[in-house]
Amino acid sequence: MTSPLPRSPSIIPLHGKHIMQTQIAVIDYGSQYSQLIVRRVRQLGYFSRLYFPEQLSEIGTPAGVILSGGPRSVNEPGAPDVDLDQLNRLDCPVLGICYGMQLLNRKFGGTVAATGTREYGPATMRVTQQNDLFKGLDGELKIWMSHSDSVSNLPDGSVVLGENGAGAPVAIQWNERFYGIQFHPEVTHTEKGRQVLQNFLSLIGEKPAFVMQRFKDELIESVRKQTVGKRVVCAVSGGVDSTVLAVLLKEAGADVHPIFVDNGVLRKNDVAEVHDQFRRLGIEIEFVDAADDFLDRLKGVEDPEEKRKIIGDLFVDIFFERAKDMDVLAQGTLYPDVIESATSGSMASRIKTHHNRVERILRLQEEGRVIEPLAELYKDDVRELGAALGIPHEILHRHPFPGPGLAVRVIGEVTREKLALLREADAIFIEELKKSDWYDRVWQAAAILLPVKAVGVKGDERTYEYPVILRAVTSSDAMTADWAELPTDLLRTVSNRILNNVDGVNRVLYDLSTKPPAGIEWE
Ligand code: XMP
Repeated sequence: MTSPLPRSPSIIPLHGKHIMQTQIAVIDYGSQYSQLIVRRVRQLGYFSRLYFPEQLSEIGTPAGVILSGGPRSVNEPGAPDVDLDQLNRLDCPVLGICYGMQLLNRKFGGTVAATGTREYGPATMRVTQQNDLFKGLDGELKIWMSHSDSVSNLPDGSVVLGENGAGAPVAIQWNERFYGIQFHPEVTHTEKGRQVLQNFLSLIGEKPAFVMQRFKDELIESVRKQTVGKRVVCAVSGGVDSTVLAVLLKEAGADVHPIFVDNGVLRKNDVAEVHDQFRRLGIEIEFVDAADDFLDRLKGVEDPEEKRKIIGDLFVDIFFERAKDMDVLAQGTLYPDVIESATSGSMASRIKTHHNRVERILRLQEEGRVIEPLAELYKDDVRELGAALGIPHEILHRHPFPGPGLAVRVIGEVTREKLALLREADAIFIEELKKSDWYDRVWQAAAILLPVKAVGVKGDERTYEYPVILRAVTSSDAMTADWAELPTDLLRTVSNRILNNVDGVNRVLYDLSTKPPAGIEWE
């Protein structure tokens, strides 16, 4: 169960204070890449958090600050600003990226002008000063740009570190601590972007300290303090986040009671696998078989949003009924959920969809009875934490599976008959992916059942049966995805097995759609 609740991105009430001091503060000026900067910095071993521009005074004593890009023009009235005195008082290296660079250039007395053309996509930069930021990098770098304004005049004393093909400055040093780059080192399209960030981080003169082992120890200690002597309840699905959460609670010595609800739209082996998984982890779970209740309520419902709502609402009713005597609710909310609910207006739509859930959780939260121990972490951090907790690889690398389960993969009305078909086809697909070592190479794979029938022949009989779609995608964060180029032999084996063994299916198709424009799920 993850239910993002509104709050500012950097303020997470883990026992009233942060588990770890922010080493690198990323100031968010609204770029689509802001979170990517935080992730990259963490991957390089420094603990990073995202802050709003007006939160400079709340950061504490960071070892470095990065100002992100953003969609506005620094020359516009009301454009997001930076308090240079405040930034100076932090007394640490500062890197402005794109908007961040333009903002700093203005603050130091230079100018920024509209070029009239938007430079978006690949470009090249010639390194003119192989100093700190470009140490070890000479010649030309392939970079990724996304801007329309450019710095026009540089303040006295600044040094150009790199320029574009037209000789315009795209990397600047204003003084001994302040740097700016027009391009995006955080995106993979920028060649050596990681090296540029690494070079900036090496300016802070500290050894990386975001070691998951240390984070884990401090997190366990914090969770221990929050849960001592209390009955803690959490929902588990067998997925990565809820499993890591349950193990973390157990490690912290909490009196933890995970609840696992069969909502009738799980995959063929889910119930057995989840039981087995928690047995191996030494955690007792409470199993609730509510499959019939869910399927009865889904009768005749075709609209995907309606299906989601029915499943979400009933889940909440069942969960809270079972969790009546809890002292604390533990949720597996992750950092992107926290940031999203803090920075976007999406709360309104979430409340609409999950009204029941949000109301109940808000009430508990007001009473100080909700903990969200993973709220500082990205998915890859959670996997790393799980590994540090000794959770086996195959559990940490299970494909994501949506909360509304197969209800979003049986298109149209969900019936027991259709679910049975889909479960068999899906299990064959997943089994063959695992056998061929392709399971770990794709982000997610699934079978989907369409609400149409097509003609075919089996033996001497004409058939009129359902087509099954196979979908397998590669992705790094589910925001974008590409269809996986599975080997033909593998596809042939899966197709033959489905056609020969799953009654009611006479066609198998492979989905060749990227996201965007398609989604990963069909719904
Ligand atoms: P889409 O279909 O939006 O999916 O490209 C992106 C990722 O989110 C998962 N997903 C869901 N997860 N409830 C969930 O818990 C949902 O309703 C839901 N819809 C999509 C999807 O499996 C993919 O990993």
